[in-house]
Amino acid sequence: TLALPLAAIAGYLLGAVPFGLVLTRLAGLGDIRAIGSGNIGATNVLRTGRKDLALATLLLDSGKGAIAALGARALAGWDGVDPALAVVAGVAAVIGHNYPVWLRFKGGKGVATTLGVLLATAWPVGGLACLTWLLMAVLFRYSSLAALTALALAPAYAWGLAEPVHVTGFGVLAVLAWWRHRDNIRRLIAGTETRIGHKAKA
Ligand code: G3P
Repeated sequence: TLALPLAAIAGYLLGAVPFGLVLTRLAGLGDIRAIGSGNIGATNVLRTGRKDLALATLLLDSGKGAIAALGARALAGWDGVDPALAVVAGVAAVIGHNYPVWLRFKGGKGVATTLGVLLATAWPVGGLACLTWLLMAVLFRYSSLAALTALALAPAYAWGLAEPVHVTGFGVLAVLAWWRHRDNIRRLIAGTETRIGHKAKA
């Protein structure tokens, strides 16, 4: 049927809305891509010192992932809907966030959007992934390390708590996230990654 490709296209377009970029620009902070790590996500918005904008970015970027997944299911009529539909829409939303057509395919790293997709498609897995992120963030104070750990563990959590399609889908999301964090991984290994709470110099 057409449901799967339509869910993928709608998910991609929704995911491609760069909330961090839009909010910081509306707030008169200039181009977030010229600040800190240059990323458009909540972690980098926090480096501007605007906690409110960082929180809004986190909620909107995760919300668009959740809405892509839930919207696909709602449009297909909920009952007896193949869970793959929501997973495909969610993965498409993360691809949209990471590779948005509006930004010449240079987007974010997909952590918040992925967490939204996990919560919307398999909430116990999403809840555990969020707890893993929080625990790692509190222990080590690196947003990237917290995300890399939480998203790498999500397929394992899904193996115990969700269905095979979630294990596969979340595996794809983990690979996407690790790929987009290549520079962060290099900095973590070199000991030069920025810790949470450090503001960017203007
Ligand atoms: O959500 C992305 C985070 O894991 C890393 O962001 O700005 O430190 O590269 P950033």
